[in-house]
Amino acid sequence: GDDHLQGYFEAIIEADQKVEPRDWMPDDYRRSLVRQIAQHAHSEIIGMQPEGNWITRAPSLKRKAILLAKVQDEAGHGLYLYAAAETLGVSRDELVELLLSGRQKYSSIFNYPTLTWADVGAIGWLVDGAAIVNQVPLCRCSYGPYARAMIRICKEESFHQRQGFEILHTLAHGTPAQREMAQDAVNRWWYPSLAMFGPPDSDSTHSERSMAWKIKRFSNDELRQRFVDMCVQQASVLTLSLPDPDLRWNAEREHYDFTQPDFDELMQVVKGNGPCNRQRIEHRRRAHSEGAWVREAAAAYAAKRAVREPA
Ligand code: 3HC
Repeated sequence: GDDHLQGYFEAIIEADQKVEPRDWMPDDYRRSLVRQIAQHAHSEIIGMQPEGNWITRAPSLKRKAILLAKVQDEAGHGLYLYAAAETLGVSRDELVELLLSGRQKYSSIFNYPTLTWADVGAIGWLVDGAAIVNQVPLCRCSYGPYARAMIRICKEESFHQRQGFEILHTLAHGTPAQREMAQDAVNRWWYPSLAMFGPPDSDSTHSERSMAWKIKRFSNDELRQRFVDMCVQQASVLTLSLPDPDLRWNAEREHYDFTQPDFDELMQVVKGNGPCNRQRIEHRRRAHSEGAWVREAAAAYAAKRAVREPA
């Protein structure tokens, strides 16, 4: 019966092994993974918009080529993650529909505007930096397809973070106006990047179960702290400051004390009331409908091919 299967499932989790698509799994393990992987995939796809906004206005061909490659990578990350979600029995079309109808979400961070070129640097350094801190532990997540998707995504993400750091380093060591632009971007992206890690552990609805299932390996607050500790050193190499007067090393805790992000703002953004939520979804809806002919043509072509050369 199911309790035998439940026991088998728990033994896999206990032994730090991987649950694979054909293994029996509890319904709410499956549901929570679909929720998280789908929203992770939606984040990658929506995340193409704020950075894509600067491809036509990059300051040099080199920067344009790098940004193009990064945005294409994000599309690929979305693909790997939708494919991982499909192994749980949902279709990509279903998930896209849930996103477009507002029943599934994407990361809060992409609801902020990219006002200057320096934002491309701040997103690379801070947002992709936060994504790496969050995604490296997910390489050890108990669900096989998700963990494997993460390994490749993390490799590409470190390139994203490096190029962002390099943009900010160049601006910070450029003209006073460039330096000011870099500092302004860091000031605007710092707290929303801290909020990316989710609500405080005390308000986290999924953490307990997610950690018991070894999907989430570290709590929201633990990863947020790890991110802050990492950024302080890097900010000093950039010679840029972080917009937190209470940021200071706590020798007892051996971590930096810091000001928490505004979690009310996070909940408002998650609810759809952020600066760019409507624009992001409208853009995605338009792109989806304008791209319908491409999907139909690709499907028709694949169907013809299948008839000619049965597998
Ligand atoms: N933005 C939007 N929603 C958020 C959020 C955020 N920053 N943080 C939390 N939430 C939502 C959760 O989805 C959950 O709502 P739901 O039940 O409707 O899904 C609710 O707030 C409560 O939060 P919990 O802490 O209980 O939720 P989780 O256990 O799922 O933890 C998480 C949140 C840490 C984001 C986790 O879902 C996770 O690790 N997801 C995978 C990573 C991910 O999605 N990253 C997106 C960042 S962007 C990115 O990686 C692209 C890169 O190229 C920059």
